[in-house]
Amino acid sequence: MDLNKNEEIFKESKVYMPGGVNSPVRAFKDLDITPPVIKKGNGTYVYDEEGKEYIDFVGAWGPMILGHCDEEVVKSIKDTSEEAIAFGAPTELELRLAKHMCTTLDNVDMIRMVNSGTEATMSAIKLARGYTGRDKIIKFAGCYHGHFDGFLVSAGSGVMTEGIPGSAGVPKDSVKNTLIASYNNIESVKDIFSSCAMDIAAVIIEPVAGNMGVIPAEKEFLYELHKLCKENATLLIFDEVMSGFRVAYKGAQSFYGIKPDLITFAKIMGGGLPSGAYGGRREIMEHLSPLGSVYQAGTMSGNPLVMAAGYTTLKKLYDNPSYYNKLESLGDLLEKGVKKVAKEKGLNVVVNRRGAMATIFFNDLDAIRNYEDAKLSNTKLYASYFKHMLLKGINLPPSQFEALFLNVKMEDYHIEKFLEAMRSWEPVNNR
Ligand SMILES: Cc1ncc(COP(=O)(O)O)c(C=O)c1O
Repeated sequence: MDLNKNEEIFKESKVYMPGGVNSPVRAFKDLDITPPVIKKGNGTYVYDEEGKEYIDFVGAWGPMILGHCDEEVVKSIKDTSEEAIAFGAPTELELRLAKHMCTTLDNVDMIRMVNSGTEATMSAIKLARGYTGRDKIIKFAGCYHGHFDGFLVSAGSGVMTEGIPGSAGVPKDSVKNTLIASYNNIESVKDIFSSCAMDIAAVIIEPVAGNMGVIPAEKEFLYELHKLCKENATLLIFDEVMSGFRVAYKGAQSFYGIKPDLITFAKIMGGGLPSGAYGGRREIMEHLSPLGSVYQAGTMSGNPLVMAAGYTTLKKLYDNPSYYNKLESLGDLLEKGVKKVAKEKGLNVVVNRRGAMATIFFNDLDAIRNYEDAKLSNTKLYASYFKHMLLKGINLPPSQFEALFLNVKMEDYHIEKFLEAMRSWEPVNNR
């Protein structure tokens, strides 16, 4: 076994790929350590190139709710690949997944498959603009909807981790129609509506935010938001790329009893293959080309391998509602355990959790309700905690502003191992 293999591979990766990665947060930029270079995954575990085993709480940033390389998902990909890799033509496989999603989810009459969460959200915005004939959109500070130019203002996820206001290369014109409101603060939305209600095509929101750390929307706030949208004929878009099939099979919308006009999906719906989709009311979806005048297309959209892996994953989740009870019970164990260990250590933490996604905020506030609160977290302390946990074989997101994820192959002892590792950490508080 080569004990420096992670470092060797990552060093060479930096020669050929910017930062050595294909997505920024993977680079562990401010952590001064080499990220483990992952070779394989099995159930709850991932293994790096040096043979080190980790209990995985990242789950490919969300998709692996069935654990890594679930036998049925692998079989569906293998079987499909024997006869169908890509056609760029209608297939029964895409019908099967589309029908399954439309019939098992609420408020999705029709769906369009795409290849990533970014594609899903940017296309949903285009559709909303085409449908309403309006240009402006409202997004919330700290919510992340992908790397589309119009969303790269006050974004969460990697943009927040890197502490940058947005991104270079985004023309001012691309963001001039993006208006920013404060999460869980209906007055901030009303202020915007009061100045230009008739120009606002859509409000897009993560109903359970996961990209400034986990912050669930408050019920009253979402209810008011929906009301405001309805009164002004503005579309409400729930971005369930992360929360869909994760916080519940039917996603975050099932907690709130609110009917969004459009919903975006990705991550879990592709079973770990590149995927995305957006769907909603028939009357809106029929504005998409070839029926309507909103043009959106994709060579790889509805790819047979993705459709097979996605269907197998969603069917398995749908047929096994007990999975969600298990995830809730694991989540509860984790949440209570973390609070207890933090107390033993005299640390102030806020644990925000919805089902199988959670964030441990190192933060002195009593509650974290929005981007402003999340930003007050002690990122240095998180970094010390993260490095220690990694050393102990616990793979966590490398940023305070991301969610950790549980999977159905986990058992209580995986959570106990997590807590044991946390207990052995000696916090270095050098804020
Ligand atoms: C809520 C949300 N929307 C959109 C995206 C973008 O998805 P993708 O990375 O597949 O483009 C993400 C990615 O994490 C997300 O969490």
